[in-house]
Amino acid sequence: MGRISFDDVGRVFGPSNKGVVALQDINLGVEDREFVAIVGPSGCGKTTCLRLVAGFDFPSSGTVSVDGKTVRSPGPERAVVFQQFALFPWKTVYDNIEIGLRNQGVAREQRRERIGAILDLMGLQSYAESFPHQLSGGMQQRVAIARAYVLDPDVLLMDEPFGALDAQTRVVMQEELVRLARKNPRTVLFITHAVEEAVYLADRVAIMTRAPGRIKEIMDVASVRKAENWDSYERIEEVMDLESFVHMRTHIWRSLREEKAAQPAE
Ligand SMILES: Nc1ncnc2c1ncn2[C@@H]1O[C@H](COP(=O)(O)OP(=O)(O)OP(=O)(O)O)[C@@H](O)[C@H]1O
Ligand SMILES: [Mg+2]
Repeated sequence: MGRISFDDVGRVFGPSNKGVVALQDINLGVEDREFVAIVGPSGCGKTTCLRLVAGFDFPSSGTVSVDGKTVRSPGPERAVVFQQFALFPWKTVYDNIEIGLRNQGVAREQRRERIGAILDLMGLQSYAESFPHQLSGGMQQRVAIARAYVLDPDVLLMDEPFGALDAQTRVVMQEELVRLARKNPRTVLFITHAVEEAVYLADRVAIMTRAPGRIKEIMDVASVRKAENWDSYERIEEVMDLESFVHMRTHIWRSLREEKAAQPAE
């Protein structure tokens, strides 16, 4: 379960004759249990892509489908972690994480177990009864991630989920996500500005052009990861030092730099 497909997707905001073309001719398939990262210049339409899969927005042309069904609304099998945390400020950490489980009709005892496990995983055990404003930005972001993970969704949609974290926490979360993803693979669409993060986490990396966003190039990381045995290294910095990693990263950097260079002066 969880295959995502963009077919000739376009998105224009505003009146069709003078609107903003955010996306153009997007064709992208994410296989069941595949981890695909999207990188691209700011404003190229990454968040828009994710919102189309989430069912928060709809294409102006073409179709977005999940498991062969055109996306027409949000659904519990697709969990989203936003660029902003989007926690309910009047609810505790525990209650924030619990909402989705309640909506799915999970029994109280099971909710307690699953939330306990995820709080442990995220290092948030002692903050269950805290309110979001009492937490640092990094901790709030962890709560937002916990809220999505706890649902054990078929499809996980993540929009720069680690963007607000400090460098150390970010590395811990990246390693944890890799561990989770390898142990219990999910279909993941992951947006990031950070090229190294994309290469470290993803099976494939889709590089977008500057606005109006198109898919410029798709890099197959999984085959290199496998051939070079990246998963045998425990730490992210060891992987990042490998020649095969550096090669992939540099290629993506160059591709993105071309997009920046091509941008008209403001
Ligand atoms: N609801 C909206 N109404 C009008 N324009 C919008 C709307 N949402 C997005 N846009 C426009 O669509 C384009 C793509 O926006 P989007 O947020 O998808 O970019 P992004 O790649 O996620 O950028 P960033 O890296 O800065 O997060 C931008 O020009 C943006 O102004
Ligand atoms: Mg965005």
